Amino acid sequence: MTSTVDGSTAALTGDAPGPAAPAWRFGEFAEGLRQIGLGHMPHTEGMSGIPEVMMGGRKLVNFAPVNFLNLHSREDVMGVFTDAARTYGLATGGARISQGVTKPHVDMEAELCRILGKERAVGYATGLVANIGFIHGMSKSIKWTDGLEMDHSDVVFVYDRESHWSLWKAADHLKYGERLFSFKHNNAEDLEKVLQRLQGKRVVVVFESVYSLDGSVAPMHDIVDVCERYGALSFVDDANGFLVYGPAHRPFAEEYAGMLRSTFIMVSLKKAVGLEGGLIVGPSDPIFSLELLGMTSAFTAQVQPPTAATAAYAMRLLTQDEPKIVDNYLERVEKFRGLLSEEGVRLYPTPSIMTSLHVGSEEKGMRLKAKFLEHGYRIPIYVFPAAKKNNSVMRLILNASHTDEHIDGFMTLLRKFKGEFDL
Ligand SMILES: Cc1ncc(COP(=O)(O)O)c(C=O)c1O
Repeated sequence: MTSTVDGSTAALTGDAPGPAAPAWRFGEFAEGLRQIGLGHMPHTEGMSGIPEVMMGGRKLVNFAPVNFLNLHSREDVMGVFTDAARTYGLATGGARISQGVTKPHVDMEAELCRILGKERAVGYATGLVANIGFIHGMSKSIKWTDGLEMDHSDVVFVYDRESHWSLWKAADHLKYGERLFSFKHNNAEDLEKVLQRLQGKRVVVVFESVYSLDGSVAPMHDIVDVCERYGALSFVDDANGFLVYGPAHRPFAEEYAGMLRSTFIMVSLKKAVGLEGGLIVGPSDPIFSLELLGMTSAFTAQVQPPTAATAAYAMRLLTQDEPKIVDNYLERVEKFRGLLSEEGVRLYPTPSIMTSLHVGSEEKGMRLKAKFLEHGYRIPIYVFPAAKKNNSVMRLILNASHTDEHIDGFMTLLRKFKGEFDL
């Protein structure tokens, strides 16, 4: 008799007894991934997400991390984390609905409300989970007891076409053309045309502030104006611009003033804050209802208490105590973009913190990545489904701790490969 393990494996390889079922084809797919250069999942030997990392026994200059302010390696930030771990422990002990939250969670959520001027916040384990929780809660129905129910089964969603994978994934259960619609990227006029056709329905408009791949920034006043004209709710995913943009003296201040008018805002802790987690802010009752409506806070974990404490600290640091961190960073990003422009490479036009270059086919992107790696540079190449098919992108997010030598080294390599890769 075959063991359970062998039996399960036999099903994968097609050797299982019984009538033949369609093959699983994992082997073929995995081989295909290896052939386009995605076979090796790198691991960092020391600290991760910093401008120089140890990988495979080599020191690499790292242009791939998204925690671009490098706060997580500051002594004071680490101190807050370790102190909170000792005071509040390493875990909440369960889901939000059963265990409640800890003081650091309350503090983190209050801090976010203060910054974004909203009434209430709810935290999730990641930004992706927050997006899924939101769309799920706003699109489904729940009945607790007679009279205590919420029916969202008629709600319609209108997405910017370039919205993040996590938002589209969250809407998998909604039929396109019935409950799910889209508008042309960053185009408030096209949104208006879609909303005109949906009058009389409850609508949620979903878009991002700064788009992950090309760094484009949404015309948020215009979009929110249209939402308000048609009585639609608005949801902005601000994973990328959170704590960077907003103040009047920084770029995109006008757009960010528009963002604050939206009904809901989602932020990720992965980028400027440099940790992991996601939160949604908005009006009090809808956010409170969402905690239970989406059930995303009932069946999963939230961020750990030390993460919450450190997130609150980082938010205060960047908005009140040391906002210069961001100002100095933005100045360096501008200079970096200037250097790339002088090289004449195909940069995406919006001068935000994403300094992205169009590369081309997946195969070309992977070859370019390998070339940089040979020379000790780790660069991020985004391929389908993060990018459009056959349109891989080198998405460069400068790190606040990259030195001039790191940047010079990168530019030298870029010059070297520019012709060969037609960049
Ligand atoms: C626009 C956008 N939304 C959501 C997410 C998911 O956030 P998280 O990594 O916190 O799950 C990302 C992540 O990069 C993102 O860029």
